[in-house]
Amino acid sequence: MADSPKTATLTIGENSYELPMKSPSAGPDVVDISKLYGSAGVFTHDPGFTSTSSCESTITYIDGVKGELLHRGYPIDQLAEKSHYLEVCFLLLYGYLPSSVELEKFETTITHHTMVHEQMGNFFRGFRRDAHPMAIMTGVVGAMSAFYHDSTDVNDPRQREIASHRLIAKMPTIAAMAYKYTIGQPFVYPRNDLDYASNFLRMCFAVPAEDYEVNPILSRAMDRIFTLHADHEQNASTSTVRLASSSGANPFACIAAGIACLWGPAHGGANQACLEMLREIGTVDRIPEFIARAKDKNDPFRLMGFGHRVYKNTDPRATVLKKSADEVLELLGVDDNPLLQVAKELEQTALNDPYFVEKKLFPNVDFYSGIILEAMGFPTSMFTPIFALSRTVGWISQWKEMISDPALKIGRPRQLYTGETLRDYVEIENR
Ligand code: SDX
Repeated sequence: MADSPKTATLTIGENSYELPMKSPSAGPDVVDISKLYGSAGVFTHDPGFTSTSSCESTITYIDGVKGELLHRGYPIDQLAEKSHYLEVCFLLLYGYLPSSVELEKFETTITHHTMVHEQMGNFFRGFRRDAHPMAIMTGVVGAMSAFYHDSTDVNDPRQREIASHRLIAKMPTIAAMAYKYTIGQPFVYPRNDLDYASNFLRMCFAVPAEDYEVNPILSRAMDRIFTLHADHEQNASTSTVRLASSSGANPFACIAAGIACLWGPAHGGANQACLEMLREIGTVDRIPEFIARAKDKNDPFRLMGFGHRVYKNTDPRATVLKKSADEVLELLGVDDNPLLQVAKELEQTALNDPYFVEKKLFPNVDFYSGIILEAMGFPTSMFTPIFALSRTVGWISQWKEMISDPALKIGRPRQLYTGETLRDYVEIENR
């Protein structure tokens, strides 16, 4: 790319405005419009922020055309293959790969924060047993500021770090407690002799009547799912966390806002919606009917697990997950899983259909994650809680980057107002 011009010129009627431009270390140049309203008296308009950079960040970079995802410069396929979730957490939080001493210290810290305040158990018992685990997680994580008030001062770097460690450490425990509560089983305490993913699996599947031996291949697959969902630039839930944090709200409240946003079926809720769609399709011979519905403008149905705002060729996470799906299902002896057959046939059909090719719609991260999670024994209602658990480190890392920026300002977008202009009140007898 030729050196980008240092300014962009905007001409409105007789007037021209010079706007500064900034060049990234990777990706498109940006036009800095922060002074535009002050100089030209106009707003820019970009619903859904399809062409808008909301912040400067050094954490994650996505090339939607190449299908590339980098965390602090390291490609996601290498991290998924060679690293593990807590090391990726360190990388996202601190910006570099830790030494063995640093990693051991970090893992010990996280391990020793996995228990939750005993009173939080009572908080869970206020929910109905049939509550969706995401509803429980949104409530419980928001309530953490009531239990961990000593790490809510966002201006204190040490409190920020403690809150970060507490959230990363306690999310698996909270997610597992939400699951146990909805199936009427007692909570299972974390154990310090287990790694992060094994601890989560045991807290979900162990019962007092017998212990639960963690299968190392399943814990490896679980850890890989955590890693693949850890962070993803300025997606909807991360942008929600950033906007909530810009007011100075405490980190637990801001992460609860992120969980609420992630729950939507267009975002993190897609993994649950995708599996429910595969189940509704049921058999390979019904795929054409659903492909036709997805293409029908009069039908709101969309192929869940397909398409992405940024990736326009392939979601590199789906590529890794597809391989994991084969491994896990073969291990479990369910590689003839009918849902997997439907998923693979649906993927091939869509990838060869001109509609999906033209609109660049292909499997995203949510397409295969649900199949693995179901094979591991999770109900679909636990898919998005697992996504939220994984994404907590991304939300926290982006929050930490923003909150420590001295130039931080509260986020306050403007609007294109097309409502009624000034008019006087009309008494009811005159209406
Ligand atoms: C995640 O942003 C992130 O990084 C998110 C995420 C992360 O890690 O944080 O990657 C996680 O949220 C992945 C996406 C999960 N969502 C789904 O799988 C739900 C199904 N997908 C769609 O809802 C949609 O593809 C989105 C929301 C993912 C992306 O929407 P866009 O980019 O805003 O695209 P669009 O809605 O403007 O659609 C463009 C066109 C439309 O047709 P036209 O109006 O141009 O004729 O493509 C069509 C849409 O109708 N389209 C689909 C489709 N997705 C888009 N048609 C059928 N099935 C689909 N899945």
